[in-house]
Amino acid sequence: MTHRVEVGRLGRHFRPTKPTYPTVWRHDMRALTLSAGLATLLAFGNAAADTAAGPSPGPEAPNPAAEEAKALIKEFAGTLKDELQGAIKAGGPISAVAVCKDRAPAIAADLAVRSGWEVKRTSLKPRNLALDTPDAWERQVLTRFEERKAAGEPADALAFGAVVDDAGTKRFRFMKAIPTGDVCLACHGKDINPDIASALDAAYPQDQARGYALGDIRGAFSVSKAQ
Ligand code: HEC
Repeated sequence: MTHRVEVGRLGRHFRPTKPTYPTVWRHDMRALTLSAGLATLLAFGNAAADTAAGPSPGPEAPNPAAEEAKALIKEFAGTLKDELQGAIKAGGPISAVAVCKDRAPAIAADLAVRSGWEVKRTSLKPRNLALDTPDAWERQVLTRFEERKAAGEPADALAFGAVVDDAGTKRFRFMKAIPTGDVCLACHGKDINPDIASALDAAYPQDQARGYALGDIRGAFSVSKAQ
């Protein structure tokens, strides 16, 4: 039995079919507008959501896993940023392509081993299709992030967490959007230097992660752990 998530245009259903509902700690009414199926999902990570009141099947205490997820993502993001900046400074953006290719997955794997969480990055337009293609749940959350951004929320404030049923056990999943900054445009922007573009073509023949503008949602960190 897998924990595959079936996603319709707006709805979602978790398997197995036993109607187990996750414990819900906090509400984000924006997230709850997604569909009735979203009774199973809850938003975390947004300060504004902490105070939102509403009917809840669980206690109103914060989920400690959300705090752990945020700290983990902070460490992941900080390490990536340091290595990227170091690589660009040392050898320029072309050599930094190789650093991103080798180091980003290694940093995620190292954090996963140390923390016990599953750690990845994902995107609606991934560069590394093998590692970063979103699963159905992630795709839905990323789509919702785009909607929330279109409705005026800044990309760096977008986060979402939920406890989902994973083949009979509970799993906490948390995502945080990654905004496109200035430094990112060299490799993810609309007007990429031809030398960088050919380095990217060589490493990622199916690259979709170009054409972004400043402030766009480049993707998201996605972490999860059995509860
Ligand atoms: C030097 C080129 C370069 C720069 C600059 C760069 N990236 Fe990337 N980015 C890459 C490469 C290469 C990958 C694929 C890494 C891999 O194979 O795991 C990638 C992957 C990603 C991913 C994972 C999702 C995917 O598309 O596979 C995200 C998210 C991401 N980059 C965000 C950013 C952000 C945000 C910035 C700016 C802070 C940035 N990148 C700057 C080259 C770059």
